[in-house]
This record gives sequence, structure tokens and C-alpha cells, in this order.
Amino acid sequence: MGNVLRIAVVDPKDATRDALKSSLLGLDSVWLEAECSRYEFFTDVVAQTHPDIGFIALDSNPEKALELVAELAKASHDCAILVTSSSTDGNLILRSMRAGAKEFLTQPLKPEDVAAALQRVSRQRHGSKPGKAAGCAVIGVTGATGGVGSTSLAVNLGCALASNKEYSVALLDLDLSLGDADVFLDTIPEYTLTDVSQYVSRLDLTLLKRSLTKHDSGLYLLPRPVQLEDARLVTVDDMTRVVGLLKASFTHLIIDTSKSFNELDMFALGESDVVLLVTQLDLPCLRNVVRLLMSFKGNPKLNDKVKVVVNRAGYETGQISVKKAQETIGREIFWQIPNDYRVMVEVRNNGVPLIQQAPKAAITQSIGQLAEAVCGNSEEGQPADSGTKTRSWLNLWPARAGS
Ligand SMILES: Nc1ncnc2c1ncn2[C@@H]1O[C@H](COP(=O)(O)OP(=O)(O)OP(=O)(O)O)[C@@H](O)[C@H]1O
Ligand SMILES: [Mg+2]
Repeated sequence: MGNVLRIAVVDPKDATRDALKSSLLGLDSVWLEAECSRYEFFTDVVAQTHPDIGFIALDSNPEKALELVAELAKASHDCAILVTSSSTDGNLILRSMRAGAKEFLTQPLKPEDVAAALQRVSRQRHGSKPGKAAGCAVIGVTGATGGVGSTSLAVNLGCALASNKEYSVALLDLDLSLGDADVFLDTIPEYTLTDVSQYVSRLDLTLLKRSLTKHDSGLYLLPRPVQLEDARLVTVDDMTRVVGLLKASFTHLIIDTSKSFNELDMFALGESDVVLLVTQLDLPCLRNVVRLLMSFKGNPKLNDKVKVVVNRAGYETGQISVKKAQETIGREIFWQIPNDYRVMVEVRNNGVPLIQQAPKAAITQSIGQLAEAVCGNSEEGQPADSGTKTRSWLNLWPARAGS
């Protein structure tokens, strides 16, 4: 079962036990191994089922529950103990930790807090690479100017990742006025980011997933609002919770930002593990890349995670060379996506992603390999000339040949 966390729960109160179970069941990375309604039976349950995590609700009988924490900490070293209570009493928290609990979660449980606590336990167990364990890899996609191809990349990267059965992938369209990710996927979503933001305090993971539109590639979409004026209703606070919930329920979250670099865009980029900054090889774009990189430099949450992606490489013979572009922006070009006007027009007009419309096309392969480079085992950018599959089309580009 890979990096899935197996959990056993004890809570004598049916109502809170059910709430805890539904929080846990909304998480893809969790397997509910056992549930128990009596503290006195739980040590045996853990001994028989060997869960990764023992979740103990304290409120029914805090004294008895704390004894159980201490007993379990001694008896089952491989089982991380998490406790939950409606009390925020510092003394109770301290006693729980001293007894051997790894995390103390306050009731009512917020799904994103449960997910974050499980993530910390999972990281200790499985290592810290996002998307590998119970974590979510967040990929921000932005562009150096309008029309550079960021939505094309965000949508097709999402579909490429979603084709991996081990991943669950969501795409958030943050271009609140003119976003068109729904058009790329030919979907008419029932709910938008505004709906989800309005109800965010009442949402749980199951409801959230139901509010998203699932494309048949497996990608889940949370689109921009229908009405222009509704864009204003989405606040950074709402976004914090929406992104928290999305991170809690998906292995990968892709955020297609607007090009205004407003408060919401900057929040999304700050939340991202990797930011793909899409550009083309012309002067106005590269000038904006320099400006953006300079502005990101002062932001410790951003600077190191920005990767520059050239789109439509090989588009014109007069394009600025990659070498010149790298000198100008003072940074490596992480990836180059080839120009393919014919395929991209088909993809857009048919509302079908590359992976379904043209699975063998060089542009599809390139985006698939970019997905692997960003989220897979390879941490490296595109091989320059390394005899890999990419070489055939890399060598066709005049920009590279002249570089
Ligand atoms: N690699 C490519 N080869 C050829 N055409 C492309 C390529 N990538 C994108 N396009 C085309 O460029 C146009 C703009 O793409 P897209 O909408 O993805 O850009 P964007 O940066 O999201 O634009 P906006 O600023 O409006 O959000 C589309 O018509 C798309 O089909
Ligand atoms: Mg766009």
C-alpha cells in the first residue's frame, strides 16, 4: 500500500468518532485500519493490527485516555500517537505530550489540520519529498505576459500527472476574470472558486471533492467565478482555507495564476513548492522575466522555487537564442516546450487535452517529461543534449542550434 498511513481510532463517543472517521476518510493517503469504542481494548487492537498511527480522543475520560497514551507509547514503538480534545487546556496538552503523544489536535477537527499532522508523521516515516508521502506537491504556473501558454501548460501538466494512477490531481484556475481552464477541458462546471470560498468554513473534504469538476483524464478542476464581479468576493483568507483543503485531499495541486500578480496570485505562488514561469523567446517576455525575477528575489518564499520554462521554442527563426536568453535573465532555462501550432489549435478547439488528442506528439512528450522532472524522481531540468528522447526535437530548434 505504498506510503499510505494505516490508522486506528479510539473514541467512546459515537458522534465525535464519526466526525473523525469522515475527516480521515476524505484523505487519499489514509487507510482506516480499525476503530474502537473502548479505551481498555485499544492496546490489544493496536497489537493485532499494527497501525502507523493510533488516534485517541481524550474527552470521554481524559485520565483514562492519558493512561492509554502512556501504555501505548511504551508497548508499540512503531505506532505514532495522535490525540484530540475539545479542550485547549495547556496542562492537558503538556500531559499528553509527556505521556508520548506526537500531536495534539483541537476539536472540532479541521480537515487541513488533521492532514498537516498526518503529513508531519508521514514525513518522519517516509522522508520529506512532497508528493511522495502524504504531502501535496503544489505547482504554481504563471507567465511573463498574456498569451505565453501558461494555461495550456497548467491544464496539460495536470492531465499528464493525473494519468498516473497513484496521483490525485487538482487544478485551480486563479485567473479570476478571464480564466479559461474550463474551456481547455470542455467542461461546464457546476461550482466555481467563489462558491467554494463562500462555503469554505462549512466544507469538509468530501464536499470539496464533490464541488470540483472531474475531467475524464482524472484531473479535478476548480474554475474561476462565472460573473466578473464575483471575483472580488474571493479573499486571501478564503484562499488559505481552500488551498489547505485542496492540499489535504490531493497529491498534486496546480494553480494557474492571473498575470496581474495581485494578492491572491502572490499567495498562490508563495504556497507553491515549484513555480513555473512561462516565457517565450522574445524581448518583451524576457524583459518581464528579468523584472519578475528581480521582484521575487526579495521574497524568500519565492526566489528559490522559480523555474523558467520557455514555451513555443522553435517558433520563429529570428527567436532569441536560449544561450542569449539565459545570459539576459541570469538564470538557467529549466525546460523548453516545442512550438506546435497545429496540435495546440486542435487541442483548444476540441477542448481535449494533449494526452488524449495527440499522445505521441513531441509537445505532449515534453510536458509529460516536465511533469516527471518537477514531481518525479529527477530533480534536474531538461537534458541539454544527452541522448534522451528529448534530443530529437531539441536538435530541431534553430534557437538551440544558434546558441
Ligand atoms: N507550445 C505551443 N505551440 C503552439 N501554440 C501554443 C503553444 N502553447 C500555447 N499555444 C497557443 O497559445 C495561445 C495562448 O495560450 P494560453 O491560453 O495557454 O496562454 P496563457 O498564457 O494562459 O494566456 P492568458 O494570458 O490569456 O491567460 C493558445 O491559442 C494556445 O493554443
Ligand atoms: Mg491563461
